[in-house]
Amino acid sequence: MTTCVEQTRRTLNFSAGPAVLPEPVLEQARADLWNIDETGIGVLEHSHRGPSIDRVFEEAEAACRRVGDVPDDWSVLFLQGGASMQFAMLAMNFLKAGRTADYLHTGAWTNRAIADAKAVGDVHVAWDGSGDTFAHLPAAADIQWSADPVYAAYCSNNTIYGTRFDTPPDAPAPLIADMSSEMYSRPIDWSKHAMVYAGAQKNLGPSGMALVLIRPDLLEQVNAALPAMLRYDVHADKGSRYNTPPVFGVYICGLMFQWIESMGGTAAMSERNDAKAAKIYDAIDSSGGFWRGHADTACRSVMNIPFVSPSPEQDAAFLQAATDNGMSGLKGHRSVGGLRASLYNAFPEAGCDALAQLMRDVAAKG
Ligand SMILES: Cc1ncc(COP(=O)(O)O)c(C=O)c1O
Repeated sequence: MTTCVEQTRRTLNFSAGPAVLPEPVLEQARADLWNIDETGIGVLEHSHRGPSIDRVFEEAEAACRRVGDVPDDWSVLFLQGGASMQFAMLAMNFLKAGRTADYLHTGAWTNRAIADAKAVGDVHVAWDGSGDTFAHLPAAADIQWSADPVYAAYCSNNTIYGTRFDTPPDAPAPLIADMSSEMYSRPIDWSKHAMVYAGAQKNLGPSGMALVLIRPDLLEQVNAALPAMLRYDVHADKGSRYNTPPVFGVYICGLMFQWIESMGGTAAMSERNDAKAAKIYDAIDSSGGFWRGHADTACRSVMNIPFVSPSPEQDAAFLQAATDNGMSGLKGHRSVGGLRASLYNAFPEAGCDALAQLMRDVAAKG
């Protein structure tokens, strides 16, 4: 697979997910869809237990470990049902009767995670950001953990509100992170976490699946009374192939990990992502108040930037101008309104320049 930094022939896709993928990944997938490993059979048509798919799974897991610097004893799982299935699975596996799970409530996705955990057992919301439309995140002193939580769950990057934890919170229990909208966009501090999961459709590949990384001591705690498909240890024992797995998703994730590696890994990605986001934040901050970002400046996301102009009419006009300039996916989430630029790993820097320039031009006209 060749490396390619900038996209050349395609629409600038600012979608929050499913989202832009790198051209070399798409080109490799196009070839392998027809014929993988010179077998005369495409990747979608092979048995999930044949040698080509053995290779796909082995390489995807190995590249996932290398690029993420995942500790050797952690399990790497490719599961179905997207990140939302993880809201339920993590509670079903670890929230035991008589115990409490703590959650930081930082947006619409934690709302769902909390609701699913409540369907399973006792939940304590250790911080609630709904009072200011989730525009900021808690400082350590703001968080009220319960006495002895079985785990603590948070969302490291809030896709809709554009907030991001700079560093993981210090929790008095195994810490579990929903990293869906920033997975592998920067290095992960494994020492702080016991489990990390991410829906794949933003930084890793296709929708409908999740990457789940689990520390061995947490894996030992799973609820063995659950049906097999819901048990993390079953998927770990079977190498994510307990049933017929989402082969194509795992295949694309494998290519994505290799692409991130070819781009210098997560540290290089992080630098590049910071530079990309800075272009948009600079266009907001230098607009004399024309553009306003939703998130407090102290906790701005590098992946998702929601912002508004002075009026819904001007937002709509901007969207039309963006479309006319070859841009797509900038409409804000319905709960925040306005506009949102999502700048995942594969989003090209030149696209950020183009958007920033358009924002400056529109702001200058007022
Ligand atoms: C942070 C976060 N968590 C969870 C989800 C839900 O993911 P899925 O649609 O894969 O279930 C999303 C979707 O955008 C998300 O942004």
